Amino acid sequence: MDEYAVHLAIAAIAGASVVAISAYFMHRKTLAQILEFARSMEKERDRVKEKDAKENSTLLEESAGNAGGMYHYKRRNHLSRRRIAIGRTSASLPDVTVARKMNGTEGEERGIGSDAEVVSTEMVFKDDDDDDDDDDYYKGMGVPPGLPKVQTFPKVSNSIKRIVGHVTKESSPKSPATCTSTFDSLEGSDDEDNVENNAEIHGSYLEADENAEDTECNTFIQTMPDHIDANGNPIPLGSANIIRSHSKSGDLHGVQPDPIAADILRKEPEHETFIRLKITPNEIPSMDEAEAYMVLQECLQLREDYLFMEEVAPWEKEVITDPSTPKANPNPFSYTSEKKTDHYFQMEDGVVQVYANKSSKDKLFNVVDATTFFTDLHRILRIIASGNIRSVCHRRLVLLEQKFNLHVMLNSDAEFLAQKSAPHRDFYNVRKVDTHVHHSACMNQKHLLRFIKSKLRKEPDEVVIFRDGTYLTLKEVFESLDLTGYDLNVDLLDVHADKSTFHRFDKFNLKYNPCGQSRLREIFLKQDNLIQGRFLGEVTKQVFSDLTASKYQMAEYRISIYGRKQSEWDQLASWIVNNDLYSENVVWLIQLPRLYNIYKGMGIVTSFQNILDNIFLPLFEVTVDPDSHPQLHVFLKKVVGFDLVDDESKPERRPTKHMPTPEQWTNVFNPAFSYYVYYCYANLYTLNKLRESKGLSTIKLRPHTGEAGDIDHLAASFLTSHAIAHGINLRKSPVLQYLYYLAQIGLAMSPLSNNSLFLDYQRNPFQTFFLRGLNVSLSTDDPLQIHLTKEPLVEEYSIAASVWKLSSCDLCEIARNSVYQSGFSHALKSHWIGKSYYKRGPDGNDIHKTNVPHIRLEFRDMLWRDEMQLVYLGNADIPDEIPT
Ligand SMILES: *[C@@H]1O[C@H](CO)[C@@H](O)[C@H](O)[C@H]1NC(C)=O
Ligand SMILES: *[C@@H]1O[C@H](CO)[C@@H](O)[C@H](O)[C@H]1NC(C)=O
Ligand SMILES: *[C@@H]1O[C@H](CO)[C@@H](O)[C@H](O)[C@H]1NC(C)=O
Ligand SMILES: *[C@@H]1O[C@H](CO)[C@@H](O)[C@H](O)[C@H]1NC(C)=O
Ligand SMILES: [Zn+2]
Repeated sequence: MDEYAVHLAIAAIAGASVVAISAYFMHRKTLAQILEFARSMEKERDRVKEKDAKENSTLLEESAGNAGGMYHYKRRNHLSRRRIAIGRTSASLPDVTVARKMNGTEGEERGIGSDAEVVSTEMVFKDDDDDDDDDDYYKGMGVPPGLPKVQTFPKVSNSIKRIVGHVTKESSPKSPATCTSTFDSLEGSDDEDNVENNAEIHGSYLEADENAEDTECNTFIQTMPDHIDANGNPIPLGSANIIRSHSKSGDLHGVQPDPIAADILRKEPEHETFIRLKITPNEIPSMDEAEAYMVLQECLQLREDYLFMEEVAPWEKEVITDPSTPKANPNPFSYTSEKKTDHYFQMEDGVVQVYANKSSKDKLFNVVDATTFFTDLHRILRIIASGNIRSVCHRRLVLLEQKFNLHVMLNSDAEFLAQKSAPHRDFYNVRKVDTHVHHSACMNQKHLLRFIKSKLRKEPDEVVIFRDGTYLTLKEVFESLDLTGYDLNVDLLDVHADKSTFHRFDKFNLKYNPCGQSRLREIFLKQDNLIQGRFLGEVTKQVFSDLTASKYQMAEYRISIYGRKQSEWDQLASWIVNNDLYSENVVWLIQLPRLYNIYKGMGIVTSFQNILDNIFLPLFEVTVDPDSHPQLHVFLKKVVGFDLVDDESKPERRPTKHMPTPEQWTNVFNPAFSYYVYYCYANLYTLNKLRESKGLSTIKLRPHTGEAGDIDHLAASFLTSHAIAHGINLRKSPVLQYLYYLAQIGLAMSPLSNNSLFLDYQRNPFQTFFLRGLNVSLSTDDPLQIHLTKEPLVEEYSIAASVWKLSSCDLCEIARNSVYQSGFSHALKSHWIGKSYYKRGPDGNDIHKTNVPHIRLEFRDMLWRDEMQLVYLGNADIPDEIPT
């Protein structure tokens, strides 16, 4: 009886499931669907014939038609995709035409191969430029960058996989669109339970599918009518396109082929058309405005007078004819003795003056004196406080922002298409420079942790520190901390900035001690310790090799010189040389912490003059006589900038016009920011003039400015600095912001960093600055304290992209800016962003390298020129080349 019941039950279950399964399939393969499919094929054929005729107009309509008022790039894209679908009544096979157009000789039935063919076309376009070989990054994904995912099931196991997928996962069908996303794994398509149907259908409909194993994805898309929704209900019509547009809208990478893109693929990217904004009618400035503009002219003129400019531009000195990768220097630290020159120099009132020889009385290079500087600074401060000028500048800035928004509304599709048509390039393989990162925090915390653990394992008996009268080995240090290697984890390391550091720079710096222990910092993050910074050197090398592996990321590391003693330079240089710290992807900046008051308190210095001596005299010595510090001479070739760092929010007294000289500065207070800036500026000015006259590299002033504190920091930097880091306080001064825009001063911003310190991410002005056309780049500042992933720079871009809805075009423009702002050599810049990168506007752009459409740059350039003409009342004299 029991047995019988069991049999019966099994039979019933088996029967039921057969019925259920077959019903399930019937359900999805209803006659209606098949009919519709056939119909769509027919339509397709008809349409194909009319297609060519329509084609020309479509593109224009698309770009023009989209002006409809959607604001955000994503949504607009989304909509337009949908409109294409509806407009063409093609519900099912959007890709067939792509295939045809990619290769005119193909028969129209051949739809299935579309993606595969796009891929092959791509391969043809792809430049053979060695440096553009796709690195492992892409190999891992198996996708040529910028192109749709090509599924790579092993041929044989296909059917098995499908069946398995079907049986085990049929209750959760997923959107076929998932497989078009670049990052989706195989699983995404494995659990497609309509795969089987697809296979059958494309078997019967589409003969030319020898490549089927490469084109699973297309199959899903093209057989979309039997796509089912989450409840297993069929969603007829249009779903394919809607879903495609979903996947298309958000991504930066998976560029799916679509008819328009394919159309534009045939053109050279240079032939983009776009809608120009002619909304600058004859703006005749009123009296008030004209007055304001005159004053702005004066400010710009002042900056021009102050700023150190190279007499001969690098592109005139070195004409690049060979477009291939510049040869890496096989022996970067080799030193060949160079002749001493007769130059004589001496400190005079805090500024080193250079003479042709000892008996000469004429200063070779004249630099503005301190009193003039502070007078001019006060002039600028008065100007930026004037109500009238403020409102004029504010209006101009808002107008700039609105114009950009309008431009994006009108042209973002054209921009996107232009990007698609640039072969090979996408956001991942355009060059980006981390324009602002502090060397001692350049590794991420996981990296540091791993490194500490490995050292503890491999070199426990290395004597690493001298504390309280005894030498300790690494093992003993950890014992003294009551820690074992096993205990260590990232939380214990506790270097990450968190809530407690918000608005507390002091705490932020405290965080910089791993485990809250200054000994670990001393051992692992210092270069002048008992082991001569060997550990820091090793971890730096690891960071360098990560950078080299990523190939498209570069960094400008800031490394400290404190000005406590003159030998610091030689120590630093020998640390660099002895640890062989060299990478083609890295240049150095020197950062000077503004800590006079601390050293004074400790009795290390007697006056501010001591600090200036310690910093600048060795630089002049090595410049005049390289033999005196050979390692420093070699190291300086890779030093491109000079930075000032410290907490800007500390209160300080604004300098008056007549300040004590550095020699007279013997009190215990720290001089104001602008005081530091002036003396660094003036010494660098004469140093650079001297170095330039000797054919050596120059060092640009690029201080941290405007992160917090008083607005006069930004004014001082405006006069003196080549570029700045942060600059978030520009939001408080429309006049300065407008001046920074007009002068196109580079801003290396790190919104994530300010998130932990001074400003919530949302309120960071980066987006506003970007819209308005300021010269902004994204940078990481302190990966050790802020970032969580292995690629902090990409993390920075990625978060900015999601929070502010930046398009791929925006990201590439920012990446391009970062190369401009960086101090890498002319040869490298030419190689990275194009041979004529130094020309303004679209002429300087090479979309094949930057992935920035000409449209965007033409727009930026046009706006900037208009603005300059307005300010100069029509008399602006704008050179064709960017300033150096
Ligand atoms: C598109 O326009 C070009 C010139 O405007 C013309 O030569 C070409 O025949 C047109 N193509 C089609 C398919 O109409
Ligand atoms: C020093 O330089 C001046 C100016 O260049 C030159 O006239 C003079 O002859 C030089 N004197 C010596 C000793 O070289
Ligand atoms: C942006 O700033 C950098 C300096 O930081 C400068 O070299 C570059 O020319 C600027 N870009 C433009 C378009 O002026
Ligand atoms: C934000 O402010 C902090 C405060 O100093 C600074 O360290 C950090 O670099 C700033 N980041 C940006 C992007 O301004
Ligand atoms: Zn910084």
